[in-house]
This record gives sequence, C-alpha cells and structure tokens, in this order.
Amino acid sequence: KPLVFSGVQPTGNLHLGNYLGAIVNFVALQKSHDCIYCVVDMHAITATLVQPDLPAQIREVTAAFIAAGIDPVKQIVFNQSRVSAHAELAWVFNCVARLGWLNRMTQFKDKAGKDRENASTGLYAYPNLMAADILVYKATHVPVGEDQKQHLELTRDIAQKFNNDFGPRIAELGLGRGEAGGFFPAPEPLIQPQAARIMSLRDGTKKMSKSDPSEYSRLNLTDDADTIAQKLRKAKTDADAIPSEAKGLEGRPEAENLVGIFAGLAGKPVAAVLQDFGGSQFSAFKQALTDLAVERLAPVGGEMKRLVADPGYIDGVLKAGAERAAAIAAPIMDEVKDIVGFIR
Ligand code: TYM
Repeated sequence: KPLVFSGVQPTGNLHLGNYLGAIVNFVALQKSHDCIYCVVDMHAITATLVQPDLPAQIREVTAAFIAAGIDPVKQIVFNQSRVSAHAELAWVFNCVARLGWLNRMTQFKDKAGKDRENASTGLYAYPNLMAADILVYKATHVPVGEDQKQHLELTRDIAQKFNNDFGPRIAELGLGRGEAGGFFPAPEPLIQPQAARIMSLRDGTKKMSKSDPSEYSRLNLTDDADTIAQKLRKAKTDADAIPSEAKGLEGRPEAENLVGIFAGLAGKPVAAVLQDFGGSQFSAFKQALTDLAVERLAPVGGEMKRLVADPGYIDGVLKAGAERAAAIAAPIMDEVKDIVGFIR
C-alpha cells in the first residue's frame, strides 16, 4: 500500500522554495494517499547546534503545514525527536551505509564548506537519519525538491543493502515481501517539475535557501504583501522581454526563475505562462507576479501567524501525531531488531 512521507527542517525562514518545491505537493498528495509529514528537529541541529528558538521554529513549520492545507486529523503531523524509532533505525543505517556513499553527498560538501574537519558528525550522517525517517514507516513515496534527490538515491541503496545483507534472516523470519524478498521498499522521490529548484531572487544560479544572509534573496512564507512587493520589485532580471517559448529562457537564469515561480504559484505549465506573457517587459510581468504571489502567499502567512499564536493547539497536533506515528513505527522497528539479532 502506498504511503507518503516527507520532512521539513525547522531552521527558520521557511520560503517560497520550500512551499512550491515541497509543501504544495504535500497538500495535493493527501487527496489520494495516506501521508506522514514530519518536522525534522533532529536534522535541524546538524549544521547549527544551538538554534535561536527551536520550539518556536518547530511550531512555525507545523503552522505552515496546516496553513497550507494539510489536515492534521486525517494525516499524521509530528516532530521527529518524539518518535525514538527514527534514532534507533538511524543507528542501524550508520552501520549499513558505506563511507564512500556518504563521501559523494553534495549537500554535505556544500554545508560543510571549506572547514570540513569542523563539521559535525551529525551533518555527515544526516542522510542515514533521513533514510531512517522514511523507511521506519516503509514509506513508498517522498515528495521533495530536486536538492533531496541524491539523498533519496542513498535511501534506496541503504534499503537494498539491508535487504541483501540480511536476505537469509528476512526469509527465515518470513518478513520478506513477495518475489523481491525485500523487507524495506525502495522509496521514490516525487518532484514537482516546474518548481523542482526555485532560485535566489538576487542570483538565478543560486538555490533559494533558508541560510542566505540576504532577505531579498527569498520570499518568506510569513512576508506581508508590502514585503512581497518590495522583494519582487528588487528581484534581479535582464534587459530583454519575456520570451514566448521556453528556449528563449536559455542562458537567462533570473528570467527562467521568475517564470518558473509564476508557473508554480499559478499551478500552470511554464509554456502556458510564456504564452500569456511572451513579449511583455519585466515591469509588467513583475506586477502580475506580485499580485499572484500576494494572492497565494499572504493568506498562508496570515494563517501561520494566527496558528502560532495558539501554541497549545499546535503542541496538541504534534503530540497526537507522534503517538500515531510511533504506533506505525514500533512494529517495524521490532522486526528490524529481530532481523539484526538484537534481543528485545
Ligand atoms: P529542507 O528543510 O531543506 O527543505 C524542505 C523541502 O523544501 C525543498 N526545497 C526546495 N524546493 C525547491 N526549490 C528550493 N529552492 C528549495 N529549497 C528547499 C526541499 O527539497 C525539501 O523537500 N533533508 C530534508 C528534510 C528531511 C526529509 C526527510 C525529507 C529529513 N528527513 C525524509 C524527505 C524525507 C531537508 O533538509 O529539507
């Protein structure tokens, strides 16, 4: 049975990339799937150990999920550290994943920067915890932005190596699934084509990110209408008009990004946006984009602010979600312990 799992780090500055690249898809998938959406607080301390206000940051991501339209009664919404099976399975996966695999992870290289000796071992082992997040529920589908694709490939490698190395034990215990004989499924990434990689508003070659020091590089979900308008007015563009076909965006990263953002917010393909705006100057296009962004984002930001003002409600959602998540994870973790040979 298909099961969706995804996570968002509570590291502050939730932005348009998180929204269009991931959260919009979380909302859409709940119509057809059972979904588990996790605020990954254990991942949040891998790059920066002491966070400014982690509880408030966790509540903000939870509020964003709900404000965007995730139903926390039908779906499971919780914070990762509450369900200890994530950490337990991550330890087993630390022993499954190979150093060579982790050494290839581009996100580690980016986040560790030049001073690699000073990166935390948690940042290095981060993808193993992410694999555990997904596989501790035997989730099959994972909505993410393009930047997480490599981590999903690693998750599949971990699942496969676990299944292979423990193959005889899995069979002996009768815990395999059909022909493949696998215990863990190979989860698939679900990536939104037009919003896979939203770029910085200041530099179309850099990813929009929570950690960019320039506030003008991103639209935050809690930005009000004036701030959205001001940031889009200052967004970098080039001197040419909007083209009417996609090949006219080649070599124009800022133009491509703004058109992609429009497409993501409008829920339309890029080609349809170019059909509507081909030949327009950026001044007119930016005005239309501002109107659309305000229309789509301001209600989400407003609802987030209303929700975080009631931490009792949010904390109740997280607690109930964690209990439901733990009930799914516990029997799977018990099976893992039996397979590995831990007496319980
Ligand atoms: P995080 O918190 O960095 O980002 C949350 C989601 O937003 C997507 N995203 C983007 N999409 C398009 N354009 C962008 N500029 C952009 N920036 C971020 C991310 O791809 C992600 O889907 N490792 C994950 C969190 C995680 C997770 C998991 C995800 C932990 N365990 C298990 C899935 C399954 C991360 O750091 O996301």
